[in-house]
Amino acid sequence: MSHIGSYDERLRDFSWEISEKELDYRPGKEINIGWYCSDRICLQGKAEKTALIWEGLMGHERKLTYDDLRKTSNTIGQYLRDLGIEAGDRVCLFMDKIPELYIGFVGILKTGAIAQPLFSAFGDESLFVRLENAGTRAIITQKKHAPKVRKIMDKLPDLEYLIIVDHDPARPLGAKERTLDLWNMPWVDAFSIYPTFAETPSVLHYTSGTTGQPKGVKHVHYSLISQYLTTKWVLDVRDDDIYWCTADPGWVTGTSYGIIGPFSMGATQCVMDVGFSAEAWYKFIEKHRITVWYSAPTAIRSLMKAGNELVTRFDLSCLRHLASVGEPLNSEAVIWSEKVFGKPFYDTYWQTETGSIMISNYPGMKIKPGSMGKPFPGIEACVVDPKTFEPIPESGKIGLIGFKPGWPSMMRMYWNNETTYQNKFKNGWYMPGDRSSIDNEGYFWFVGRDDDVINTGGHLVSPFEVESALLENEMVAESAVVSKPDDINMEVVKAFVTLKPGFEGNKDTELVIMNFIRKKLSPLAMPQEIEFVPNLPKTRSGKIMRRILKAKEWGEEIGDTSTLEDD
Ligand code: WTA
Repeated sequence: MSHIGSYDERLRDFSWEISEKELDYRPGKEINIGWYCSDRICLQGKAEKTALIWEGLMGHERKLTYDDLRKTSNTIGQYLRDLGIEAGDRVCLFMDKIPELYIGFVGILKTGAIAQPLFSAFGDESLFVRLENAGTRAIITQKKHAPKVRKIMDKLPDLEYLIIVDHDPARPLGAKERTLDLWNMPWVDAFSIYPTFAETPSVLHYTSGTTGQPKGVKHVHYSLISQYLTTKWVLDVRDDDIYWCTADPGWVTGTSYGIIGPFSMGATQCVMDVGFSAEAWYKFIEKHRITVWYSAPTAIRSLMKAGNELVTRFDLSCLRHLASVGEPLNSEAVIWSEKVFGKPFYDTYWQTETGSIMISNYPGMKIKPGSMGKPFPGIEACVVDPKTFEPIPESGKIGLIGFKPGWPSMMRMYWNNETTYQNKFKNGWYMPGDRSSIDNEGYFWFVGRDDDVINTGGHLVSPFEVESALLENEMVAESAVVSKPDDINMEVVKAFVTLKPGFEGNKDTELVIMNFIRKKLSPLAMPQEIEFVPNLPKTRSGKIMRRILKAKEWGEEIGDTSTLEDD
C-alpha cells in the first residue's frame, strides 16, 4: 500500500488538513463540490478524460468527458438560475440512474442550491412527505415519473417547477411544467459558480427512523474533505481506475461515493441503469474493465446464489479492489469473493448522517471476515454502555457505537427537526443507533440496530411508515411491522394486522391490502407477508411491542418482557 501508506502509518499523524491540502482548500476559502467535481479536474489537464460511462436499457450507451460534465452541469445550473432558483433553495432530483441525475446533482451544487435526491421508485405519498418537509422549490424528473409529481403538486405550494428531461412534445405542459432537453440545447461554457463556503448546505438526503416521518439529513460543502479522502484511502480509487458504484444516488452511497468521491478524484466511473442480473453485472465489469467495485451485501449474496460457474465465463481479471456497504457483510460472502474473484470484499460501515465511511477494512489491513474493520483515521469511535453512555473498556462486550463529533462530512442538522437531531448525541458522542463489540485488536463486529428500523437489502425501512400506510386502509384496525429473516436480503418486511369487526383475514384480504399500500410505499418497503392476528402484544400503556413479534420471527428468546411492559 505504498501509495497511500499503511493504516497504522496513516493513524500516526493524521489530520484532515491532508485532504484540505490535496484539494488546495484553505479554511475560509470558497469550496463548491460542483466545481471540484468538474471544473477543477479540467483545470488539472484532464478535460478530455472520460468522467462517466453510462449504460441504459437495451445497451444504450453515453460517454461524458470531464469537460462535458463541466459544460452540461453549467447548463443545468444556468437553466435553474434563469428560472429564479437561488442559493439555499431545495431542488429535487427524481430520476432513474440516467446521466441527467449525475449531471443535475453537480449543476444544482454549482448554483448554491441544495440537491435533494429521491429514489425514483418512490410512490406519490413517499414523495409527498419528503417534498413537503423540505419545502422543495423545483423537481427534475423523467416523463415516466412525472405523473406521480402531478398528483401531489396541488398540495405542495412551495413546489414551483416540475422539470421534465425527456418531455414528449405532443403532450401539452401544465402551468408549472418545464422541459430540459440537455442533449438538444447549446451547452454553457462559462458559468459563475455561486460562492459556497464550508458550512453552506449542499445535499439533503431523507432517511427513515423508527418513529415519525423520514428525516432530512442536511450536509454541507465541507463534506467533500471526508468524501474525497475516504474514496482515495478506503475505496483505493486512483487516477487510472475505472470505478463502479452500484448504488442509486437516491441513497447516500450513490451521492457520496457515486458522484462526489469519484468525480472529485477525477476517476472514470461507470453507471448501469439496468435491473440486477448476475450475468449482466459480470458482463458490465468485463466490458468496461472495471477495477474498483463498490457494492452491497444483498447484491453479493445474489451473485453467490447465481453460482461459481457463471463467474468463470467472464474475464474479471480487471478487478483490483472490492468494497461493500449498507448491511452486515457475512463472512461467507467475503470468503466466497476471495475464492471466485481472487479478492475479498472489504466491508465499510457508515450511514446517511455520517456522510462518509466511518469504520472499514482499509486496503492492506488484515481482514477478519465478518468484521467491519477499524475506524478511519481521524474518526474517534467506541462502543458505549447503553445506560451510562460511557465507553466500554473491555474488548468483546457489546455496546452502542459512538463517534466523537467533528469530522467534515457529519450531518449538520435534520431538516426542520432540531429535537431529533439533538437526541442523536449522548454524553458527547454521536450515536448512529447500532450495536457492536470491539475485539482486542480494535476491530468492530456489528451486532444489530438498536431500534426497530428494518434494513432490507441495505435499505432502511421505518416500521412507522408501513404501519401508517396500513392504517389508512378501511379494514385495518391495528398493525405492527417487523423484520423477518431472508436468505438474500437478510431481512424483509412483515406486517401483523388486526382487522376491524366484520372483516375476515384471508388471502383475498391480504391481496386487497397489499394493493392498497403498494400505491403508498416504495417497492422496497412493501411487506412480503401480512399475518392476520386477533390482537397485538402491548405494554400496559398500550404501546405495541414490536420486539416480541420480531423475536418470534427470528426464533429468538423473547427474554424479559417485564421491562418491555413499561416501555
Ligand atoms: C447499516 C448507508 C452492518 C447500519 C451507507 C447503519 C451496516 C445503516 C453497514 C445506515 C455495515 C451500514 N455492516 N450494517 N457495513 N453499513 N449499515 O443511512 O445499521 O442508508 O446505521 O447509509 O445501515 O444506512 P444508511
